[in-house]
Amino acid sequence: MNLLGKLALVTGGSDGIGREIALQLKGAGANVIVTGRSVEKLQAMAALGFGTIAGDLSTPAGIDAVVAGVADKPLALLVNNAGVSSDYDLDTPETLDSAAHCIRTNLDAPIALCTRLLPVLRAQGEAAIVNVTSGLAIAPRAGGSIYCATKAGLRSYTQAIRHLLRDSNVRVIEALPPVVETNMTAGRAGKKMSAHDCAAEIVRGIRTGKSEVNAGMVKMLQLVHSISPALARRIMIRF
Ligand SMILES: NC(=O)c1ccc[n+]([C@@H]2O[C@H](COP(=O)([O-])OP(=O)(O)OC[C@H]3O[C@@H](n4cnc5c(N)ncnc54)[C@H](OP(=O)(O)O)[C@@H]3O)[C@@H](O)[C@H]2O)c1
Repeated sequence: MNLLGKLALVTGGSDGIGREIALQLKGAGANVIVTGRSVEKLQAMAALGFGTIAGDLSTPAGIDAVVAGVADKPLALLVNNAGVSSDYDLDTPETLDSAAHCIRTNLDAPIALCTRLLPVLRAQGEAAIVNVTSGLAIAPRAGGSIYCATKAGLRSYTQAIRHLLRDSNVRVIEALPPVVETNMTAGRAGKKMSAHDCAAEIVRGIRTGKSEVNAGMVKMLQLVHSISPALARRIMIRF
């Protein structure tokens, strides 16, 4: 996809991987609107020349606000990046609220935005949807059961709509980050990819017309999974 002059929407583009994607899309000549909940973070992005839309994507009102903010614009690129982890614990029913919030944000919202913004994307000459899942969509880790379920669900949805849209002007891309240095992984030990490098692989994938962007170590996970899905699951379940 040629990004020059294209209008892009990056959900969760006010921080972390999304912010880096927004910066790099802008660097490639796109006009970029970012969304988020924190008004302070959005103001910081506006000061850098980004369009902004505030809205909590775990709520119908937040989704309505984002759709209304771009529905009458020539949106050519939708990046469903906003996501949260969950505090769900199998032995603590009270944590079902956290699970539901994670499902609404990570799975329901991207599905709603793909569906409601598809007519706008279809009206452009060249358009794309990027759904940000995770290496954990390939094989879950036990400690993140709900988060992994949302990402596996979004991966499945992405593969299905890619097929449905195969003859259209809308390319459907899945981006699978590894562990990346952001607020989401703060305090977590071990090797992490930088948000800049992860975003660079994703933006390169958009430009070069990839269907899947396996960032960093996810390439290795995909290789192991292609040889032995059972081995990939055994490695990741304790991760
Ligand atoms: N970091 C990793 O290791 C990793 C690995 C694999 C996949 N991913 C995925 O990559 C994406 C970005 O993650 P990240 O690590 O960059 O996260 P992050 O640094 O925590 O940033 C999350 C972004 O999403 C926004 N957001 C969160 N909940 C929202 C909601 N309910 N409504 C609207 N906006 C919301 C945040 O805005 P506010 O701060 O204003 O709420 C922020 O802009 C997520 O989908 C995540 O699952 C991350």
